[in-house]
Amino acid sequence: MPSDLALFVKQLLRRPHEVVALAPSSAELARAMAAGVGPETGRVVEFGAGTGKITRAILDRGLPPENLTLFEMNPDFVARLRQSFPGVTVHQTGAQDVAAFCPAGVDAVISGLPLLSMQNDTQRAIVGGAFAVLREGGSYTQFTYGPRPPMAEAVQRELGLLALKGPKVWNNLPPARVYTFTRALT
Ligand SMILES: C[S@@+](CC[C@H](N)C(=O)[O-])C[C@H]1O[C@@H](n2cnc3c(N)ncnc32)[C@H](O)[C@@H]1O
Repeated sequence: MPSDLALFVKQLLRRPHEVVALAPSSAELARAMAAGVGPETGRVVEFGAGTGKITRAILDRGLPPENLTLFEMNPDFVARLRQSFPGVTVHQTGAQDVAAFCPAGVDAVISGLPLLSMQNDTQRAIVGGAFAVLREGGSYTQFTYGPRPPMAEAVQRELGLLALKGPKVWNNLPPARVYTFTRALT
């Protein structure tokens, strides 16, 4: 069986427009993405789990596996995730389908998707779907390699979201910043 890194590189070469990253997230970036989760957190959804670097960090925070649901399109990654994380629910489908699979009341959505490389319509479907299942006050966490928030301004405005700039993680290839989005109070 290939290592997680070998599997990631193989899928990057096969499906570069879906993977859109030079390497899996570092342990430090994964920890920063999972920092808001704890043993008492309710249900958590992860988008674009890949080989599971962020998944592992979420579980390391003490979240029971049965409270975690993953959305990943790539069948080879899905097979690896199911093998590596027994007890975690893994859906082999696009994150835009989240509302069809998850009942409302989710505490947090954590996304490793290459959101900014997607068209605005796709971003709207994914992030809108996330906020359709998030409870009031729930958050959507997303990393980016770029200098700007990882969501088109138009999408952020239409969905009425506030962006909170989180830590920059230098120990990642390339360095990345974590953002957390919540619904603006009306
Ligand atoms: C940048 S990789 C991140 C992998 C992993 N989360 C990490 O941080 O190492 C992006 C992942 O998103 C997945 N992906 C891309 N578009 C997707 C979509 N619409 N729905 C679900 N997963 C998607 C890819 O297959 C890939 O596993």
